[in-house]
Amino acid sequence: MMMLQGGLVVSAHDERVADVRLDGETILEVGRLTPHEGETVLDCTGMLVMPGGIESHCHLDLECGPELTTADDFATGTRSALAGGTTTVIDFATQFHGQSLAQGLARWHEKAAGKAVTDYAFHLAMTQWQPSFATELADMVAEGVTSFKLYLAYRHSMMVEDDEVLAALTASAALGTTIGFHCENGRIIDALTQRELAAGHTGAYYHQVVHPPELERESLVRLGAIADLVGADHYIVHLSAAATAAEVRAARARGSRLVAETCPQYLVLDDTAYGQPRAPLPGEEDGEELAARIAVMSPPLRAAADQEALWAALADGTLSFVGTDHCSFTLEQKAAAADFAAVPNGAPGLELRLALLHSFGVVPGRISRSRFVEVTSTNAARYFGLHPRKGELAPGSDADVVVFDPQARWTVSHDLLHDAAGHTPYAGLQLTGRVRDVFRGGHHMVRGAELVADPPPGRFVRCELPSPVDVTKHPLASDEGDVDFVPERLGLTARTPTL
Ligand code: URP
Ligand code: ZN
Repeated sequence: MMMLQGGLVVSAHDERVADVRLDGETILEVGRLTPHEGETVLDCTGMLVMPGGIESHCHLDLECGPELTTADDFATGTRSALAGGTTTVIDFATQFHGQSLAQGLARWHEKAAGKAVTDYAFHLAMTQWQPSFATELADMVAEGVTSFKLYLAYRHSMMVEDDEVLAALTASAALGTTIGFHCENGRIIDALTQRELAAGHTGAYYHQVVHPPELERESLVRLGAIADLVGADHYIVHLSAAATAAEVRAARARGSRLVAETCPQYLVLDDTAYGQPRAPLPGEEDGEELAARIAVMSPPLRAAADQEALWAALADGTLSFVGTDHCSFTLEQKAAAADFAAVPNGAPGLELRLALLHSFGVVPGRISRSRFVEVTSTNAARYFGLHPRKGELAPGSDADVVVFDPQARWTVSHDLLHDAAGHTPYAGLQLTGRVRDVFRGGHHMVRGAELVADPPPGRFVRCELPSPVDVTKHPLASDEGDVDFVPERLGLTARTPTL
């Protein structure tokens, strides 16, 4: 047995100074405890003690083309996650054209088994819609996969049409599962891309020009109209823009069964990363163009003005959880493309999620510590059917625990990270708060901010059906227990209606 002594135990509902006793793979008790004879005691005074982070959105070992696979596989990606306080990742198992859902899932089990050092679950991303999938969805539920994904972007590769969205949502609603949607209008992006390329606008600056926020907003509204016809649970992945967050709020007020995720990059970075309009020569050694290519992701980074609206939406419950959309490519992979439209989309982020949310959310008072835990762990567990096994420090829950030093100040540099991208879009940012210790399934895997040399493999965890009601409630904090200080109160009054 192991006792984590004297930390501020923070949950989605409250915070109190307490001790946490781990017994093998699970949590035995939480409260003011007396160490047993011979028990290992870890001093957590001055630390936050929180449920292990849950990553709602990542792409590990994803083939994006015949000769293009993400830099991170399950070995490197989950080491990075663990070092950053994430103990469970929900990756997008992907059905490629012509495959059944079962074939897609089987391949992802092969990729993750024995390699992942976090626990892991899967969403099933469908790169097309086939009528046969209506029955195959039920097979996935039996396999512990209860969330799916469709793309309204990426025309000519993964984009589905509105009638296919209707068919998919109808089948999903009948099962009580959910579908996450990449909301951007792929047809218009395609048209704008052709227009810019024809004008000789090949530089990465133009990526954001052809992905304006209006196309995210339009796509969400169109999706909502379809989903509401069949009363289907659905969620928007990586919401990036203030205008889209406003539409989520409006849809919820109408009773739409909509949940939304955002990502740290949309809260912390902005579109100045794309630099100035320019057209580099292919193969040109060009640092500015490469810097802009690092920020090529979809949706793109938005205007700085969008950030405050997203923080407010995260605080008031409009946005329910924060995933990173970790989809990493090396600088060589980013540099090899002939023009902006060919640059691989995506950026690394798994390891910094908790530290970024703490530094830019909790420290300046934009969100409370309880909300920090809720949006980085508990809500993903609730929505994706992992709660209370995950996302909670309670007797019987998995012994997935993060000991977080809220005072540690450090500067991001890729040398400190564990992913295989070789770069980070957050380089140079000064952060406050750092993961000190991580337990996953009772194993002490990060000690004094160092990942252990040979972390034991993680387990596949089956998801139950989603629980949308729990994640659309406004966060409430109570002062029960032995509280040494009062949590930040943001004076938030908006409460989204319970679905
Ligand atoms: O740019 C991104 N987001 N790449 C990953 C694939 C996706 O759209 O989620
Ligand atoms: Zn993604």
